[in-house]
Amino acid sequence: MQVLDMRTLRIFYTHKHLFNLAVPKSLSIPRFSRYLHSTFPLRCAEPSETTPHVWSIYGRAPDRLPSQTVSSSSDGNEGAKRPNDRNRKKGKGKVSWVCAECGNSDGQWWGSCRACNAVGTMTRFSEGNSLVSVSEAASGSWLPQQAGELRPLRLTDVNRGINRLDWRISLYGPFGAEVSRVLGGGLVPGSLVLVGGDPGVGKSTLLLQIAALIAEGNDLGRPAPVVYVSGEESVEQIGNRADRLRIGAEELFLYSSTDVEDILAKLQPLSPRVLIVDSIQTVYLKGVIGSAGGISQVKECTSALLHFAKKTNIPVLLIGHVTKSGEIAGPRVLEHIVDVVLYMEGEKCSSHRLLRAAKNRFGSTDELGVLEMSQSGLQAVSNPSEMFLSEQCTDSEYLAGLAVAVIMDGSRAFLIEIQALCASGSTATRQVNGIQASRADMIIAVLMKQAGLKIQENAIFLNVVSGVTLTETAGDLAVAAAICSSFLEFPIPNSIAFIGEVGLGGELRTVPRIEKRVGTVAKLGYKQCIVPKSAEKSLGSQVFEGMEVLGCRNLKEVINNVFRSH
Ligand code: TYD
Ligand code: MG
Repeated sequence: MQVLDMRTLRIFYTHKHLFNLAVPKSLSIPRFSRYLHSTFPLRCAEPSETTPHVWSIYGRAPDRLPSQTVSSSSDGNEGAKRPNDRNRKKGKGKVSWVCAECGNSDGQWWGSCRACNAVGTMTRFSEGNSLVSVSEAASGSWLPQQAGELRPLRLTDVNRGINRLDWRISLYGPFGAEVSRVLGGGLVPGSLVLVGGDPGVGKSTLLLQIAALIAEGNDLGRPAPVVYVSGEESVEQIGNRADRLRIGAEELFLYSSTDVEDILAKLQPLSPRVLIVDSIQTVYLKGVIGSAGGISQVKECTSALLHFAKKTNIPVLLIGHVTKSGEIAGPRVLEHIVDVVLYMEGEKCSSHRLLRAAKNRFGSTDELGVLEMSQSGLQAVSNPSEMFLSEQCTDSEYLAGLAVAVIMDGSRAFLIEIQALCASGSTATRQVNGIQASRADMIIAVLMKQAGLKIQENAIFLNVVSGVTLTETAGDLAVAAAICSSFLEFPIPNSIAFIGEVGLGGELRTVPRIEKRVGTVAKLGYKQCIVPKSAEKSLGSQVFEGMEVLGCRNLKEVINNVFRSH
């Protein structure tokens, strides 16, 4: 089609209401029954000719839940196959374009999303003959209340009789405590939790262990049924893993299926306490066009499971695969639908796994769970604050150039080791690893100018142990101390930790959450903690047993106190 024709067509469809063209009945597009593929036909009233019956989790939404008829294409070739208008003429129903990034829906194709400006993310949908209330229908048989029975309730009536302590499903033991911490104090009944993470990071292991904990029913005092559904592995494979994890919970049920309707139907006789689905990208709903893992399937399946969770009060835990860029695969709107989004992180070479909440409707997103992948599954780390300290820490009394900094991740404090090496006689180069180069340059310049350290002729190497990246200015003082220690060849006793930001005048500035940082250092048995003088105020008269907190105004004072014999 000529470009001119395309433009004319577009103008025509944008302003067609102005033309008021009457199409003769004999020429009108034949309508297919939109319930042709309904997964729950008996519950649906006969479709009216004029009103499309589309239901989403938010209620009736004729324009919001189109079914995908053409697979997503984000390769930028959309412009070439843009003529959706032609399809309308052929009677394939209204075509709309939905952004895979933010879920914005548009009546026509644009090169980029007009809501979030993402390029090449507009995916074509057609509200064809299969617009069905699939998500509601799939969980329909569980619905205890009809919409008409619901009415607004007084807050005091809602809260009356609910024991806040018993409200959440608690997870027992040290492993359970770490997971509970990230969830905000336990699993909330009726919540939908999405767990994302790289392949092989341990998502299936994590959820199988959670399933076992709840199935053992320590919080209830008796076992409770939990169903673990996998669309990726057979029950034998899951059983094998459970065996390796030494899980023997009587009430843990395994099921291998990818059909959401079938899963929900099979659950009913068990009335489980928790449902686990591994993974959302492998399950599908029959009424929705598109293969499992596609945008509309993922969205509709999540909606169906949300309905199920809200209506039955059974919490559902979903596993979500992540894309190359680290986001959960599928439409971004998925993260808006669910109540909690957890990410499991871990380095390939390290056995530590971090569990973070990216979204939590029932708690803080500041919490961090620290776990370790061992031979027998995931275990809580006994002292996470120490996990980034090198093993030779006890010998560091004899090594110059090591200093301990305290960094925060969420609400948790971690001690990390900074290493510096000043080599005289070689070319005056600088190599930094794990520290921002400009920050390191600034600290070196301040040490030269404000503390009188003659390091300009030296090659300086800086490194943060365990591959951690120092992003906080709270580590400045430890970097400066490590450089001094190496240059002066004066080992810093391994019982000293450093907290503070270094200013251009060589002055020490306080940092956020100083009490938490100093408290963590004290708990780990350190003898002395060097902090900025101004931080002493916020610490008040707090006493840290067995540890001296030394406030210093500037770098010179630190050098005089720590490297006293020089
Ligand atoms: P898995 O839970 O299958 O990861 P995901 O579901 O995120 O893809 O975990 C896979 C990795 O975990 C695998 O590489 C082996 C390791 N692993 C252990 O080290 N110990 C164990 O006890 C288990 C069950 C797994
Ligand atoms: Mg898995």
